[in-house]
Amino acid sequence: DGKYCVTLIEGDGIGPEISQSVKDIFSAANAPIKWESVDVTPQLIDGKTSIPDAAIKSVHKNYVALKGPLATPIGKGHVSLNLTLRRTFNLFANVRPCKSIQGYKTPYDNVDTVLIRENTEGEYSGIEHVVVDGVVQSIKLITREASERVLRYAFQYAQDVNRLKVRAVHKATIMKMSDGLFLRVANRVAKDFPQVEYDAELLDNTCLKIVTDPTPYNDKVLVMPNLYGDILSDMCAGLIGGLGLTPSANIGDECSIFEAVHGSAPDIAGKGLANPTALLLSSIMMLQHMGLTEHADKIQNAIFKTLAQGTTITGDLGGKAKTHEYAAAVISNL
Ligand code: IPM
Ligand code: MN
Repeated sequence: DGKYCVTLIEGDGIGPEISQSVKDIFSAANAPIKWESVDVTPQLIDGKTSIPDAAIKSVHKNYVALKGPLATPIGKGHVSLNLTLRRTFNLFANVRPCKSIQGYKTPYDNVDTVLIRENTEGEYSGIEHVVVDGVVQSIKLITREASERVLRYAFQYAQDVNRLKVRAVHKATIMKMSDGLFLRVANRVAKDFPQVEYDAELLDNTCLKIVTDPTPYNDKVLVMPNLYGDILSDMCAGLIGGLGLTPSANIGDECSIFEAVHGSAPDIAGKGLANPTALLLSSIMMLQHMGLTEHADKIQNAIFKTLAQGTTITGDLGGKAKTHEYAAAVISNL
């Protein structure tokens, strides 16, 4: 039927409600997407968190998935489901743009940052042990292979979107070996991309400068190890009004998963109060990734128009609209 099949992981808490908004807006916009919903309730197999086979098969078949927030069952020895998904599909690069929303007032105007986070290792490698009672070690694993992979991705991305400055963010003055390796690989990969301007910056300095004035970052792609990207991407989200407004893309060689960064908000789940914007913007990154740029632009413009009008926005943004009312306003702006 000429449609692209996409795996949909609706997620927990507010996940189903915000997924419904995406589905409604996509069909109103005639986006050629067929959703294949899968359940990712985790199983512990040999003490390892695993997601159901059907979900894995679906993502491998479709290459692309959209994912709502997932809560990880507590106290059963589970590794975070979000991390399990990134690992299962080897989603090595996490792309996190933050762009100011017209009409939504924050202390910062004209924020337009793009951060690319290594997504498979670093402090997230999950290697921890007790040395002796009262002394533990958590291993920060940095490999040349994963560093090179995400760095090449960042430079290629910079070229593709014509944002021709890449800055590696690191702390190699202190983490001489791990960040030192990341930085050396960055310096070398940069040579393969002579059209892209390249420099490096210490993470603490980036933090200081970006909250003082984010605009010098508007022409750059920041690339960094996993945990730095986790923290700095929340900081960037804060500049534009929080995680309710920021999309994210987990990119792998074989497949990619687009997800909102926020949590499942169990306190407001089922009440129709959630803001679907972050998941919507993630779904727009998905459309762009699939080459469906016309549909991406059309839906994105309708979202920005609705937010700029400010009359039908959700409570987190200071409005009174229910989730479905906001979605209806977006649809009327298509
Ligand atoms: C994120 C989240 C995750 C992370 C959590 C939910 C495991 O904070 O996507 O940034 O730490 O990577
Ligand atoms: Mn995070």
